[in-house]
Amino acid sequence: MKVLIHQTRDTATACVADLVVGHLARQPDAVLGLATGGTMEAVYAALIARYQSGAVSFAGAHSFNLDEYVGLSPDHPCSYWAYMREKLFGYVDMDPARAHLPRGDVADAEAEAERYEAAIRAAGDIGLQLLGLGANGHIGFNEPTSSLASLTRIKTLTASTRDANARYFDDVDDVPRLAITMGIGTILRAQEIVLLAFGAAKADVVARMIEGPVTAACPASVLQMHPKVTVVLDADAAGALA
Ligand code: F6R
Repeated sequence: MKVLIHQTRDTATACVADLVVGHLARQPDAVLGLATGGTMEAVYAALIARYQSGAVSFAGAHSFNLDEYVGLSPDHPCSYWAYMREKLFGYVDMDPARAHLPRGDVADAEAEAERYEAAIRAAGDIGLQLLGLGANGHIGFNEPTSSLASLTRIKTLTASTRDANARYFDDVDDVPRLAITMGIGTILRAQEIVLLAFGAAKADVVARMIEGPVTAACPASVLQMHPKVTVVLDADAAGALA
């Protein structure tokens, strides 16, 4: 695990954007694994700026997002489909036919999870996976106690995750209780993983992820087992490392 500590969140974010740009320069038809959440908003803004300056094209790329809320349709304003349109896809030359997220509004969410896992495999698995880090150690929506070998499936969101994501909804009661998420096993099949975390609120979980035991109690700790992981932090998020 390579750990890069930047002084500011801006330089940490720029570093992650540059890793994506470099990956696409080497492999224009790369399969990107994308995340949502507050951390990624800054990364996508940086990628849009690089696209607008001609530094990167997404025209040949494929993407698979980590997760989607069960029950929300792609046009629901709080869906991750909407997030991706608003934060990235609406501003770059990504082919919509190659940009994938699970459908949250299907009648059979379990079948949708299986379909999504099969689609990732059919694409040859993820080349570069971007991850944020939940304050409880989750990656994707793989909450603590998730199987470290899990595949794409439905997960029940913890109260702390629903509280953390309530800022995107009118009321915490509107936050769905279930999500379809890539599994930890799915994520670990990625050739390369880049995780970004910033801010003092993430410092303790960052230390558990990097220096703690590999345990389902902190799903992100399993990244210690992957051969090509880069963790990008700002100084605050690195504040509890030994
Ligand atoms: C998002 C996702 C989550 C977030 C994590 C961090 O698709 O799967 O794992 O990356 O909850 O969220 P923020 O960046 O909002 O702190």
